[in-house]
Amino acid sequence: MHSTGCVPIGSSRKAALEDGEMTESATGHETDSGYFSEENSADVVIDRIAAATDPRLKQIMASAIRHLHAFVKEVEPTQEEWGKAIAFFTETGQICNEWRQEYILLSDILGVSMLVDAINNRKPSGATETTVLGPFHVADAPRYQHGANICLDGKGEPLLVQGRVTDTQGRPIAGALLDVWQANDEGFYDVQQKGVQPEMNLRGIFETDTDGRYWFRSVRPKYYPIPDDGPVGKLLRQMGRHPYRPAHIHFIVGAAGFEPITTHIFTPDCPYLHSDAVFGVKEDLIADFHQVNDANQAAELGLGEHQYLGALAGPRRRHRDPVTHQPT
Ligand code: BEZ
Ligand code: FE
Repeated sequence: MHSTGCVPIGSSRKAALEDGEMTESATGHETDSGYFSEENSADVVIDRIAAATDPRLKQIMASAIRHLHAFVKEVEPTQEEWGKAIAFFTETGQICNEWRQEYILLSDILGVSMLVDAINNRKPSGATETTVLGPFHVADAPRYQHGANICLDGKGEPLLVQGRVTDTQGRPIAGALLDVWQANDEGFYDVQQKGVQPEMNLRGIFETDTDGRYWFRSVRPKYYPIPDDGPVGKLLRQMGRHPYRPAHIHFIVGAAGFEPITTHIFTPDCPYLHSDAVFGVKEDLIADFHQVNDANQAAELGLGEHQYLGALAGPRRRHRDPVTHQPT
């Protein structure tokens, strides 16, 4: 036999075990699928995690490895294409900061965020549907009394939002907290326009009254593009997709003894309702917005002339009260 200078397999394994670095199964000898080949690639890699001590991590990683290898076998990327994929993920990480989370955006545009949301929010019938949180929620928004205007710069078409929080049987929930935020009439959140919009513009927290009701003033939101100046935006364009989200208002609604929900209401007339870049629209979340044509009603609701009024009361099929005032 010729000499190679290699350490015999048996001796290195023994040394590692003696050092306490590996368990018996960590060496892979119990579940050995052999050397790596194109045919058995996933099995070989999965065998190598036999010693993982967290069973959930082991399950997740085994599934991820299996699907990833199947994907690569289906696509058969060239080395150049694989290099591009690595560069894409590198750029995606490099653009992330306190305000920019490009990986969540990637998950959003691929429908994965909505799928995870659906899996984790299988609610009983009667519960309001949930949708994505998005990156623009800010903790500790100001607490307001009913009727307050969350639009701090007076720009946009005035809107009254009103509704009622109930349990799934329709019984009112008093003391529920609604954390509300939205883009302005040009489609920007305050955090995207620091120094242009007032801090905490179009954000607020409201508490329902004894009848579960809430109401606040705002402005009609506008559709907007998700941040598309990074690798995810480039990918959207390459896939022939636009970056727009239909006009909406965000809500997180919580009450003691109830599971909180993260949701939106959408305006019914938005051109992007059927092609939301992040797949967040559900039919029940399209709210009714009504114009108020009657001057007396507009006055009763505290609206001046040339003002608009809309409102959320909950899922569209069950509530039909919001309104807008037609300019004269
Ligand atoms: C949002 O609605 O604020 C949003 C959701 C997902 C991605 C980007 C923005
Ligand atoms: Fe949004």
